[in-house]
Amino acid sequence: MKQSLEDILLNVSKSEIIDLGDLTQAQRLIIHSLIDGLNVKRVGIWLINEEKSAIECKLLIDTFHQTEIESLELHRTDFPNYFSYLDTERTIIASHAETDPATREFTQVYLQPHNIKSMLDTPIRHKGRMIGIICSEQIGQIKEWSDDEITFAGNLSDLYGRALSAYERCVYQKQLEIQNANLESLIQQRTQALETSLSNLKSAQDKLVESEKMASLGNLVAGVAHEVNTPIGIAITGTTHSIELVKELELLLSNNQLSKSKFSESISNIKTTNELIYNNLSRAVDLIQNFKQTAADQTGHTRYEFNLAEYFHNTLSSLKPMLKTHKVTLKTRLTEDIQMYAPPGIFAQIITILAQNACFHAYPKEQSEREFILSLERMDTRIRLTAKDNGRGVPLDLKKRIFEPFYTTNRQGGGTGLGLSILYNLVASQLDGDIKLLSEPNQGCEFILTFPMVLSRFNKNTPD
Ligand SMILES: Nc1ncnc2c1ncn2[C@@H]1O[C@H](COP(=O)(O)OP(=O)(O)O)[C@@H](O)[C@H]1O
Ligand SMILES: [Mg+2]
Repeated sequence: MKQSLEDILLNVSKSEIIDLGDLTQAQRLIIHSLIDGLNVKRVGIWLINEEKSAIECKLLIDTFHQTEIESLELHRTDFPNYFSYLDTERTIIASHAETDPATREFTQVYLQPHNIKSMLDTPIRHKGRMIGIICSEQIGQIKEWSDDEITFAGNLSDLYGRALSAYERCVYQKQLEIQNANLESLIQQRTQALETSLSNLKSAQDKLVESEKMASLGNLVAGVAHEVNTPIGIAITGTTHSIELVKELELLLSNNQLSKSKFSESISNIKTTNELIYNNLSRAVDLIQNFKQTAADQTGHTRYEFNLAEYFHNTLSSLKPMLKTHKVTLKTRLTEDIQMYAPPGIFAQIITILAQNACFHAYPKEQSEREFILSLERMDTRIRLTAKDNGRGVPLDLKKRIFEPFYTTNRQGGGTGLGLSILYNLVASQLDGDIKLLSEPNQGCEFILTFPMVLSRFNKNTPD
């Protein structure tokens, strides 16, 4: 190949424009290289459509007429002969374009109007397929295409194929970047949505936990109301009785019928009644006092030193009515001399949850012997609290599950399934302790809680 042509080819091949992915620049470079190398006036790049029924001009530069054309179309139906030559996928070398069998169809409509004498069409190949041609045309005079020129034009066509690959790569890359960006924003949106629903779930759970606490508090309130009712009822009866006795004394006195013996008998009666009133009102006051403490403890976090057994007795007195309603006999074995420094409400909650579950879950309807035994023992530096019932027990495969939040076998009866999970959390996170459940079907349940006597988390010297 002629040196000058080789130089041009080398320059184009080395030019970064070809691999840049900018097809417009690459087209111009290739067309101008052909115009220079072949010494022609007119070069166009044409692409064949998918159906091979037309070719479309991408860019045509005519330096003779000083024009540039984009988007011109030639159809197979108009130039069937030319298209059948294209179908062979070979270079069309038409030095005498007007008479060449491949190009003579163009004579009147194309060659003569533009004064084109010779044509050289080199196929553009891309991924092994011919996808178009580069058409070099000589204006004004016949040009005999030399072998060098034909090879040169063919090589530039191949370089156009390379430019097209770079362009496609660029498009894919951009699509990929867009997709990546979309994906990132999608992930961000999804993460956001997940975070929102997680926090909704958390707050719903918090609400449920709160409502479970309130429900157990409600049970305590009901218990206290019931307990307080009895002494106040007795006090009211006593007061009425006392009033009657005083009235009778007044009447006897005003009628001068009051004997000394009657007087001392009535006074002694009144004294006894007053004592009864006093004792019962004191009991009511105690109960209310206890409850106030329990309720405050259960909702608050104030910690202080207290006697565990005594606190258990107080809490249990509020739970007795519930146990009674369910015909459950309460037995206690509480070691008396254990002092704790902690928020006592934790223990009120623990006992309430265990007693409630015994009442609501442990016993089949027909079972009449119902026992709930609460014991408290000291073992070295630890304390063991046991709640044992003699009910239906928990099947082996459910032993772990019953501590899961929301697991309940009594949803239709209003169970939240949170009792034991709250219990578990209280024991594990507040008391640094652990829970064991011994249970066999029909052998009852025994919940064994152990925890250290001195809770470092509630160290007396650290503030609340
Ligand atoms: N003493 C018990 N005897 C038998 N089953 C029990 C006992 N305590 C708890 N369970 C079972 O554990 C489940 C979970 O209890 P809990 O977490 O307190 O939720 P809930 O009382 O709302 O059902 C209960 O639904 C019940 O099936
Ligand atoms: Mg429960």
